Amino acid sequence: MTSRKGIILAGGSGTRLYPLTLAISKQLMPVYDKPMIYYPLSVLMLSGIREIAIITTPEDQEQFVRLLGDGSQWGMAFTYIVQPSPDGLAQAYILAEDFLDGAPSAMILGDNIYFGHGLPEILAKADGRKEGGTVFGYYVADPERYGVVAFDGEGQVSEIIEKPEVPPSNYAVTGLYFLDGDAPRRAREVKPSPRGELEIVTLLESYLRDGALSVERMGRGYAWLDTGTHSSLLDAGNFVRTLAVRQGMQSGCPEEIAYRQGWIDGDQLRSHAEKFKKTAYGRFLFGLLEASPQHPVG
Ligand code: G1P
Repeated sequence: MTSRKGIILAGGSGTRLYPLTLAISKQLMPVYDKPMIYYPLSVLMLSGIREIAIITTPEDQEQFVRLLGDGSQWGMAFTYIVQPSPDGLAQAYILAEDFLDGAPSAMILGDNIYFGHGLPEILAKADGRKEGGTVFGYYVADPERYGVVAFDGEGQVSEIIEKPEVPPSNYAVTGLYFLDGDAPRRAREVKPSPRGELEIVTLLESYLRDGALSVERMGRGYAWLDTGTHSSLLDAGNFVRTLAVRQGMQSGCPEEIAYRQGWIDGDQLRSHAEKFKKTAYGRFLFGLLEASPQHPVG
């Protein structure tokens, strides 16, 4: 069985964050002490994924390469793919078809931030399903802004509707999709929506029709943060800061995850820590080298 590969979709023009994003990609915006893309990248790393395609606009690709390189610094391998115009989330599977080469995938949107005790376990559960797909439902107050899950009388998913005027539930489909190796073929069958995009929900519907889509609900202990407006971007940064200051631990730290996964060794971690030694981030990395067994993981 081919191991699961990752996709981070970091395209889009970020118009809702103008003028911040006039010259810089949204997914490179700071969320407290790290560029936004570190957080979704960390989710894929927690899923055990080491091979990742990063999809960006043609103009922004260079900056992502400068930030993330080829991934070898974290024991990973990154491929960069350009999305010439933002024609929908499902298009990512077509663009990444050669990269995936038949492998199952986990795609995450580059502006989605997740935090929660038990995240590695729920990711492992999704990864364990080799056939079909898994999406994550998160209870929100404003479901009309997202793809929304409709449940039937037995609590099974009956439909997923993109930005419904009258939401059938409060469960938004978050921007993390575990799909099997059939996703690119199915994506090629998706017809553009009235707004001219290859919608991810249409691709998910194709799995749903075949009885091949599971929805994992993320309960109250999870934070799925939005970065779609100036206020929510600042709120996300404050949330990360609160955790960092209160617990003295990092969230969304690729060096930590790579080290814990055994993808880099202590010497490599030390050299990362040296680079960041003037920051709390660097001190946290040094601390990992002496971490006590009680230090909570995940
Ligand atoms: C996209 C998807 C939507 C999903 C959301 C999660 O919406 O189309 O189904 O709920 O991401 O962030 P967008 O943010 O592109 O409007």
